[in-house]
Amino acid sequence: MTTNKETKTDIFDTSNSGPDFFIRRCVVEDLDEVIDINEQELPEDYPYFFYKSILDNFPECFLVAQNERGRIIAYIMWRVEKAPSINSLKYINKGHLVSIAVSERARRKGIGKSLLLHSMKAIKKYKIHEYVLEVRVSNYTAIRLYEKFNYKIESIKKNYYRDGENAYFMTLNAKHF
Ligand SMILES: CC(C)(COP(=O)(O)OP(=O)(O)OC[C@H]1O[C@@H](n2cnc3c(N)ncnc32)[C@H](O)[C@@H]1OP(=O)(O)O)[C@@H](O)C(=O)NCCC(=O)NCCS
Repeated sequence: MTTNKETKTDIFDTSNSGPDFFIRRCVVEDLDEVIDINEQELPEDYPYFFYKSILDNFPECFLVAQNERGRIIAYIMWRVEKAPSINSLKYINKGHLVSIAVSERARRKGIGKSLLLHSMKAIKKYKIHEYVLEVRVSNYTAIRLYEKFNYKIESIKKNYYRDGENAYFMTLNAKHF
């Protein structure tokens, strides 16, 4: 028998999940837990309506990881932006990673990798040309994760974060994923 929550979500192929977690689409009922993880794991906080608007607009690539007890232990969210192409006057779609975080106790089990993999596949439906993201220059762990997916540092954004830290702007051509 399935619960209401299960019928509303797409559970991804569990072969790409782990023995003690699975990846599925986020639903509105998950947002409080997602916000708790964000507040514990990252200095960048957003108001509820921000999460809700990302979920309303790009639900396919707003994913969560759930543990065997049904608790949310990680999330990833993206938005799609239109930007001018470098080579022509045309506007192209870019997939912009808004945020990813895994609860500290659940790290190093492949959850970050799995969330990136599934969400990057899902966002392709928007015909994006490029994946882009910002990461703190000191965030070695996250940089290693993005490099695993062949993201490259394209530039440095000075004073990008509120505390003055610089960001690496990392990109990946969608053709290469
Ligand atoms: C970055 C983060 C999402 C990784 O999540 P995770 O579930 O622990 O990552 P995974 O287990 O899938 O590991 C994926 C890869 O990341 C790298 N990595 C993860 N943790 C690492 C660590 N402590 N040291 C070095 N590399 C690490 C490795 O390359 C790893 O691949 P490997 O296991 O094959 O060596 C997690 O550390 C996190 O939530 N950090 C706090 C929030 C954050 O910084 N978000 C990114 C903002 S831009």
